Amino acid sequence: MGHSENATLIGRSGAVAAADDQQEALVRALGPDMVLVGDEVGRYCRDWHGDVTTGAVAVLRPRTTDEVAAAVKACASLGLSIVPQGGNTGLVLGAVPDQPGSQVVLSLERMTAIRRIDADDFSAVVEAGCILSEFKDAVAREGMFFPLALGAQGSCRIGGNVSTNAGGINVLRHGMTRELVLGLEVVLPDGTVFDGLSTLRKDNRGIDLKQLFIGAEGTLGIITAVSVKLMPEPDQVATALVGLNALDDAIVLYRRARRDCCDLLSAFEFMPPLAFVLAREAIPDLAMPMSGDYPAYVLMEISGSGLVDIDDLMERFLGGVMEEGLVADGVIATSKGQARNLWLFREGMNEGQAKRGPHLRTDISVPLSRLADFVRDAEAAVAAALPDCVCVSYGHVGDGNVHLNVLPPAALSPEQCAAQIYQAKAAINVVLDAYHGSISAEHGIGRLKKPDFDARLPAVQRKLLTALKTAIDPTFVMNPGCQLNFVQNS
Ligand code: FAD
Ligand code: LAC
Ligand code: ZN
Repeated sequence: MGHSENATLIGRSGAVAAADDQQEALVRALGPDMVLVGDEVGRYCRDWHGDVTTGAVAVLRPRTTDEVAAAVKACASLGLSIVPQGGNTGLVLGAVPDQPGSQVVLSLERMTAIRRIDADDFSAVVEAGCILSEFKDAVAREGMFFPLALGAQGSCRIGGNVSTNAGGINVLRHGMTRELVLGLEVVLPDGTVFDGLSTLRKDNRGIDLKQLFIGAEGTLGIITAVSVKLMPEPDQVATALVGLNALDDAIVLYRRARRDCCDLLSAFEFMPPLAFVLAREAIPDLAMPMSGDYPAYVLMEISGSGLVDIDDLMERFLGGVMEEGLVADGVIATSKGQARNLWLFREGMNEGQAKRGPHLRTDISVPLSRLADFVRDAEAAVAAALPDCVCVSYGHVGDGNVHLNVLPPAALSPEQCAAQIYQAKAAINVVLDAYHGSISAEHGIGRLKKPDFDARLPAVQRKLLTALKTAIDPTFVMNPGCQLNFVQNS
């Protein structure tokens, strides 16, 4: 386990202590049940893709909010900083330490209770460590629906979703995580508890403080519980995959779907033909849903509950756009199993890319109407700079959000591969800046995107962010190195 043996630590107070002493002090303060050291630390110190393997002085696994508060106080007094971790599915290195000799990982994995599901109030209160899909399943058993949906939902945890303000496939209808959060309980860097688990829908008593912690990636405190909005479970869901002659047609089709399917459109994702190859590299027995080969595909979903006829709506919508020639081909799932099979192509393509080895992952948004233009221009820029690389562009049409990923050719040395990833990112960012887009539509900044974020941060925003950080976390206990290199006041 390396770093803890014979390592020397320098705390922010200037005190110097051997790593073993720090671990012993943590165990003394918090008890052996909460503190993991040794080989067990390893699995918390690798990112989801395995691009980065690091270490930590220890992993702390509290079971209650009071234990989180005690952990924060103990770390502060020992000069250790804290990297909070949920499911560790984040894609920007926010949840893995970058200073293994002076950081602990605080995992929320033992705080999984669903404190309340209230169908009459259309709300629930859930602890930060609950896995998203387990929460969704529990809510569904009460006839209710929590709309946050993403490929990592079997592993990511609610606190991580809130801390990254996660997006996913239902944003076009229900908004980002921020729009689903009614209240938060947060342990602050001094160990006090911000107790804001209200389920009120409307509350304008001054500045809405909970918003500070949503999307903060653990830099301002540790979210221990969340109150959220629920919806009625949609009892009708229609899912269709369509083949298009150009990505531009996806934008036109989206406009039509928003108008013709009104508020019942719940997902509208685009994929390139390579998606089917990549997904089958991850899930080999996936049955191909369509025989033709088209330059672009859209996976769309319409859903609702009550008296509307969703299947009829989907059939009439697709019938119309196919007759007009806007859609070249399409299949509508006739069972839940078929619908799941279609979604596995969209979800499996992430794992397929991971299997191909190190690659550039982007998470870009541009004005929705310019999405197809951006993809064309950015892919052309990559092709001009790196003709042997393969672009994989896919994502959330309704949010103007594209993951324009770039796969370097196989058989490059790690250094050559890293250089190509860097070049590809630079080529894409030139185009992105011309479109006034965002380098982070949904995944956050973490440690990976820090230089790109920093380089584009206007002075006034930097001043505000620094003021917030130093007011709430003056000794930089919480996830230093994530989002920005803040400068500590002396
Ligand atoms: P982690 O990775 O553990 O942590 C993420 C960040 O939040 C870190 O900075 C961490 O320090 C902080 N954090 C975690 N828990 C807390 C807490 N309780 N208090 C304070 N800070 C905390 N993201 C999308 O937005 N949309 C997608 O469609 C999507 N699809 C994905 C598909 C795959 C296959 C994968 C691997 C990832 C995907 N992601 C997506 C990214 C990721 O799943 C989300 O960012 C998710 O919200 C992270 O949750 P987590 O519990 O894994 O957080
Ligand atoms: C997705 C992740 C990568 O949309 O955000 O699949
Ligand atoms: Zn996404």
